[in-house]
Amino acid sequence: MKLLVTGGAGFIGSNFIRFWMKEHPQDEVVNLDCLTYAGNLENLKDIVENKNYRFVKGDICDRDVVFEIVKDVDLIVHFAAESHVDRSILDPSAFIRTNVLGTQILLDGVREYKKRFHHVSTDEVFGALKPNEPAFDESTPYDPRSPYSASKAASDHLVRAYYHTYGIEMTISNCSNNYGPYHFPEKLIPHFISNLMDGKKVPVYGDGQQVRDWIHVDDHARGIDFILQKGKIGETYCLGGDSEITNLDLTKILIKLMDKDESYIEFVKDRPGHDRRYAIDFSKAKNELGWEPQISFEEGLKDMIEWYKEHQVWVEHCKSGDYQKYYDEWYGR
Ligand SMILES: NC(=O)c1ccc[n+]([C@@H]2O[C@H](COP(=O)([O-])OP(=O)(O)OC[C@H]3O[C@@H](n4cnc5c(N)ncnc54)[C@H](O)[C@@H]3O)[C@@H](O)[C@H]2O)c1
Repeated sequence: MKLLVTGGAGFIGSNFIRFWMKEHPQDEVVNLDCLTYAGNLENLKDIVENKNYRFVKGDICDRDVVFEIVKDVDLIVHFAAESHVDRSILDPSAFIRTNVLGTQILLDGVREYKKRFHHVSTDEVFGALKPNEPAFDESTPYDPRSPYSASKAASDHLVRAYYHTYGIEMTISNCSNNYGPYHFPEKLIPHFISNLMDGKKVPVYGDGQQVRDWIHVDDHARGIDFILQKGKIGETYCLGGDSEITNLDLTKILIKLMDKDESYIEFVKDRPGHDRRYAIDFSKAKNELGWEPQISFEEGLKDMIEWYKEHQVWVEHCKSGDYQKYYDEWYGR
């Protein structure tokens, strides 16, 4: 089988390619990525020599490039996106372009050449839960609150619309917050690990009582594999890590694992529209596909801290782009 993975130079896409090539060594993988600040070919340097792997530097909004590749593959797994909520608050335009228009162009290619499409989405499309409300599942109405989650919601709707209108073969996964190796250091867990490694304080938004569910990126990759092997066309599957925790408690765990103390916590102005709680009920994936997460949050976090310590050159490379300029703009807003 031949796969097109979009956004394969990013955090989850690169982990997915590594996972896929190990589990399905006979398959060919084409990685289409335009290498934004979040795309880094270093994420795949152990894969690059594999004769079944090919990288194409290109934009999913470029119809000619997309059609040329889509016609030659069996399956598309679509990760490419602008993915950082805070950046979407500073400037939504790139989010609309890539996440909505880019997805539509891929869908046009899928429709034209009759290929299977898997769309990788987020639990953030469902909005925010109150403390005692049941977790999100596949029947939860959409209620996105940030430009990022609105753009992902729009793309999910387009994928379903192409299924109903044109009969494309598609599946969708809505997954909770990922963490793991190659996680770009602007996101909460790697940002905090990186700050603590550098002896800097960690900025906790608001009162730190926002609840998130965390899933290891390898469990996410395995979940997508299960959907591709056993999922029903036209269906959506929620994937979660069974690890709900407040941002403040998570911060305290990281501080402890890194032998620091709570004087490293700095409470800062909250993110506008900050969703209070996300949680995922993944019973459908468990009952219909036999998937459930396997990596415990505590073990996954310990491994990630070790990985970050061993990959300081990689971390510095990530920070060499507009990283500081972005933080200056964000905290100066
Ligand atoms: N990070 C999470 O916790 C999480 C959770 C659920 C779902 N998701 C979804 O998973 C996907 C991947 O997330 P991530 O955290 O790996 O993101 P990321 O920002 O690390 O990587 C995104 C990749 O897409 C590429 N890209 C961006 N715009 C592009 C374009 N126009 N054309 C081609 N390539 C482009 C970037 O260069 C980068 O390599 C996204 O669709 C995101 O919405 C992420």
